[in-house]
Amino acid sequence: MVKEHDFKKCNQAGFCKRNRQLADTAAESGSSWTSPYALSPDSISVKEGQVQATILKTINKYEETANLPITISFLESGVARVTVDEEVRQKKDIDLRHNSAARKERYNEVEHFAIVGGLALDKGAQVTSQDKLQMTVKFGPSHKHEAVIQFAPFSMDFKRDGQSQVKFNDRGLLNMDHWRPKVETVVDVKFEDEEDAQKPEGEPEIEKVKQEDESTWWDESFGGNTDTKPKGPESVGLDISFVGYDHVYGIPSHAGPLCLKETRGGEGNYAEPYRMYNSDVFEYILDSPMTLYGSIPYMQAHRKASTVGVFWLNAAETWVDIIKSKESRALGMGSKTSTQTHWISESGLLDVFVFLGPTPKDLSTKFSELTGTTAMPQEFSLGYHQCRWNYISDEDVKDVDRKMDKFKIPYDVIWLDIEFADDKMYFKYDENMFKDPIGMSKALDEHSRKVVLINDPHLKKKDGYYITDNAKSKDLLVHNKNNDVYEGHCWPGGSHWLDAFNPAAIEWWKEQFKYDKFIGSAPNQFTWNDMNEPSVFNGPETTMPKDNLHFENWEHRDVHNLNGMTFHNATYQALLSRKQGELQRPFVLTRSFYAGSQRYGAMWTGDNQAEWSHLGAALPMLLSQGISGFPFSGSDVGGFFGNPDKELQTRWYQGGAFYPFFRGHAHIDARRREPYLAGEPYTQIITEALRLRYSLLPSWYTAFHQAHVDGTPIIKPMFYTHPNEASGFKVDDQLFVGSTGLLHKPVVQEGQETVDIYIPDDEVYYDYFTYDIISTQKGKTTTLAAPLDKIPLLMRGGHIFPRRDTPRRSSGLMRFDDYTLVVSLANDGTAEGDLYVDDGESFDYEEGQYITRKFILDDNAITSVDAEGRDPKSIVPGEWMKAMHMVQVSKILVVGVPNSWTSKKEVEVESDGRTWTAPVDFVPAEKGRAAYAVIRGLGVRVGDDWAVKTT
Ligand code: GLC
Repeated sequence: MVKEHDFKKCNQAGFCKRNRQLADTAAESGSSWTSPYALSPDSISVKEGQVQATILKTINKYEETANLPITISFLESGVARVTVDEEVRQKKDIDLRHNSAARKERYNEVEHFAIVGGLALDKGAQVTSQDKLQMTVKFGPSHKHEAVIQFAPFSMDFKRDGQSQVKFNDRGLLNMDHWRPKVETVVDVKFEDEEDAQKPEGEPEIEKVKQEDESTWWDESFGGNTDTKPKGPESVGLDISFVGYDHVYGIPSHAGPLCLKETRGGEGNYAEPYRMYNSDVFEYILDSPMTLYGSIPYMQAHRKASTVGVFWLNAAETWVDIIKSKESRALGMGSKTSTQTHWISESGLLDVFVFLGPTPKDLSTKFSELTGTTAMPQEFSLGYHQCRWNYISDEDVKDVDRKMDKFKIPYDVIWLDIEFADDKMYFKYDENMFKDPIGMSKALDEHSRKVVLINDPHLKKKDGYYITDNAKSKDLLVHNKNNDVYEGHCWPGGSHWLDAFNPAAIEWWKEQFKYDKFIGSAPNQFTWNDMNEPSVFNGPETTMPKDNLHFENWEHRDVHNLNGMTFHNATYQALLSRKQGELQRPFVLTRSFYAGSQRYGAMWTGDNQAEWSHLGAALPMLLSQGISGFPFSGSDVGGFFGNPDKELQTRWYQGGAFYPFFRGHAHIDARRREPYLAGEPYTQIITEALRLRYSLLPSWYTAFHQAHVDGTPIIKPMFYTHPNEASGFKVDDQLFVGSTGLLHKPVVQEGQETVDIYIPDDEVYYDYFTYDIISTQKGKTTTLAAPLDKIPLLMRGGHIFPRRDTPRRSSGLMRFDDYTLVVSLANDGTAEGDLYVDDGESFDYEEGQYITRKFILDDNAITSVDAEGRDPKSIVPGEWMKAMHMVQVSKILVVGVPNSWTSKKEVEVESDGRTWTAPVDFVPAEKGRAAYAVIRGLGVRVGDDWAVKTT
């Protein structure tokens, strides 16, 4: 079990404790509490789309102030951004008694790593009113958005259509620890606000902030490690209220429900804030606000018909408190719940983006404009990945490969964990065990299969190991607080860490992946970045000391949560440039991440356990990734630690077939558990789950493409697909796949043979396998039979999705297979859907080398047209497009057809100026099963326009 006491609680992190105490003090003081921050009206300057000013923080009773420059940017997208810095820390020559090489400014480069666009200012933003007390700016599409900036105390109210949605400093918890020199004697810094100072004599003074606790300002110890703090206290805190919103989601990754819990105690709530400090928390506990391996400080608040959100652009250790407050409304109007959050970071800028919705989809789009979308994946990476720690030799790999074939179990990738490397020196195969890695890769390639090799950021400290020696000589490694090369312990023993914040380190890293440099590497080899939080076995909280120094002397403290992403990026860049002229998409799996990591590959949820509870915990975590912009996510199928029994393993494969990233993995001490070892009936049932995944790959790929285009999740929770249906807001144990209408609920309990699936609307639902019409009621659950060999999977009426029905060994071998379209008729007899396909490996799609279709069924016909309205003649087909010319939609399955189809024996097909007929098999409705029809031998090209007349 994870040792909980190895990781900090809020009151063990000085800055968290202090900011939380501030919240307590403010709450205790009630309406007499005044925030000591005031925006100086004289300092305001307005230029197109931006307001700049200075906030004055009153520091003490002598009315000394700290100057905090604020920039409020109104973006073309309708998003607002508020950035607050600190004047004195902007100057590098500030007094510093602690003589450290660390930079003194507040860290201001998170944007450089996380943001890729969407920052164009809204030139139409308009100051619509301004007086001595406040100013109002209207912005965004049709000026529907409005920011009311109150000067003293400083606060902001973000409105949509005249209604408050998001408020800053509403509760007065804004806090920026101002720069101060270290003084050895403790000064009494009692604070009283102006109001108190003016109180008539004789009246008792209310002490607003008690004696400040300085004990953790200049150094702080935890678990035997002392963090020196050359910059002193520099935390930032802000309360953000979501007015009238009773559900909040996001801020992954945490092993808890999708819908975030309150964190200030009380029944069913957490007593600790959600923490974001990327850490190697192996065997993590479930239902906990504890930090995990990656962080995306992006939260969305939701109520019926409205979604808003905030993105806290800060990469230091961050905690978020959540409470809900009920306000009673006028008599008979019930009560209104608002969610109040309190964000606390150890250092850096206060930099917050505000999204005003109104739909979850709007938020995905705007957030991905800022942080980027999911990289178009290699299509193979949507297939099944067979991993364990470890396949120990090339013969072992080939043996697993042969057995998967023998049992006709499809898979695309076999993985090599750390034991592949000679003495944990990545880039060097263990030559005794892997005698012919190129031969191994070629053997896999025969069936279009791939291999993924682990490559961690720790470099073994060993004289003569070229990689470490060379990186050291070029000064590309992370430094300790004394500015010497930092040393810690990880898998290889004594190690150093690549500093991927340094552009020169990325250039160097790229060199190491060249085929002629990395002996044994091949084009069908890809990479797994693990331990990049970074994990340091002997470090504080299993990571690096915060006073370590990165490129340009930024402290690790400031950049910690970005660390994983910079390394992931370095590897992504490296795979892009292995050979000149080779333009294949990288595939890199990462464990640690930040907002923006979706641009570089996939993530997984780390070291889970082979227990039913962990199977259940996986889906809410993956749904949270999806709504937070990083949907290419998975959990170790089977559970990493321990040995799943066969039932659990089988159920995990059935659920895993619906993870965007689908990998079986196991700890070195776990027994072998490749699917063929399970024995019957388990092996067969697992194989069926894998085949289901493979047949639906065209739909998965289409969903990935959608995520690539506009940031939408690949698997979607109910609140996302049905934002007006309040009964679904807390449902996080089932999913929709992309826009297919496929609704899946995994079985996550031992011995369970039914599931209660929640139905979010009045549409008709069919069982995927039997076409039974499911009796449903909107907002209620319905019970589905789910014996071990049955995956609970429904088709929502109104959708058309593509499939490839011939089972094969790998996705690569299915590339030019014909398609089946599945049509599930809606109550009103219509349906529509999409297909996106490209070569699945190159960047030619950027040059228009792809096929994208919109399928529509109405009263008269099923038609296929280019989804983007492109003229096919405008595209000069490359090699792949030419090959696709022969690929057909050979079959259409129509579920829920009306009785008028009874006598239909054939349908008329029209395409490319020709007409012909295709035979129809009609199967009438029977005992709860919908009528369905199969149109066979259709003979239409998938890339062409066509119509099938159904009347
Ligand atoms: C970490 C990873 C795990 C991997 C192991 C050895 O624990 O999370 O997946 O197998 O390291 O590399």
